[in-house]
Amino acid sequence: MEVIVEQTVEAMSRAAALEVAEILNAKPNAVLGMATGTTPLGLYKELAQMCRRGEVDFSHVTTFNLDEYVGLPVTHPQSFHYFMHENFFKHVNIPLENIHIPSGTASNYRAFCDWYENRIKECGGIDLQILGIGSDGHIAFNEPGSSLSSRTRLKTLAKPTIDDNSRFFNNRDEVPIYAITMGVGTILEARKCLLLANGKNKADAVSAMVEGPVTSMITASALQLHEDTKVFLDESAAGKLKMRDYYTWIQNKKPGAPQR
Ligand code: F6R
Repeated sequence: MEVIVEQTVEAMSRAAALEVAEILNAKPNAVLGMATGTTPLGLYKELAQMCRRGEVDFSHVTTFNLDEYVGLPVTHPQSFHYFMHENFFKHVNIPLENIHIPSGTASNYRAFCDWYENRIKECGGIDLQILGIGSDGHIAFNEPGSSLSSRTRLKTLAKPTIDDNSRFFNNRDEVPIYAITMGVGTILEARKCLLLANGKNKADAVSAMVEGPVTSMITASALQLHEDTKVFLDESAAGKLKMRDYYTWIQNKKPGAPQR
């Protein structure tokens, strides 16, 4: 894992956007794994601006989202379909047919999940997976206790996640308890992962992911087994890392690196 600490959430988003752009410029038909939530909003804004300025092109890109709530139609303002179109897809030149988001209203979830996994393979696998982290250490909706080999499936959300996400709903009872989510095993097959985290409420989860043992109790810690993962943090999310100075030193020692 490579840990990059930026001073602000804006700088974190910008650094991650440059990374995504570099990959798309090297491989214009790349397959991107997308995340929802508050964390990647700055990244998506940066990418949309870069697209408008002609610095990055999405016309040959294919995307696969990590997850979706079960029971919410695509038009529901809290569905991840709605979120992605409002916050990203409608601001870039991606063809609609290249977008994949798990269905929250499938009649046969098991068949849908198998189809989703196969579709990722048919498209050549995910080149770059964008990730956030839950305060309980989850990636996608792989809650504590999820198998580190898990695949796309129906998952029951944990209480801390329902509490965290209730901020988007009128009340806690409206938060769906089930989601369709890519598994940890699915995520680990991406060629590269970029995980973003900001804010002090993520500091414990980040330190457990980066410096704790690999455990299904913090599913993000499985990224320690991934050969090409970059973790972009702001100062607050990095606040509990024991080896913080070492990570900065590594970044400063890279050829041509700006001094932090
Ligand atoms: C969303 C997802 C989740 C979030 C995580 C953090 O697609 O997969 O794992 O990344 O819950 O959410 P925020 O960014 O809202 O703190």
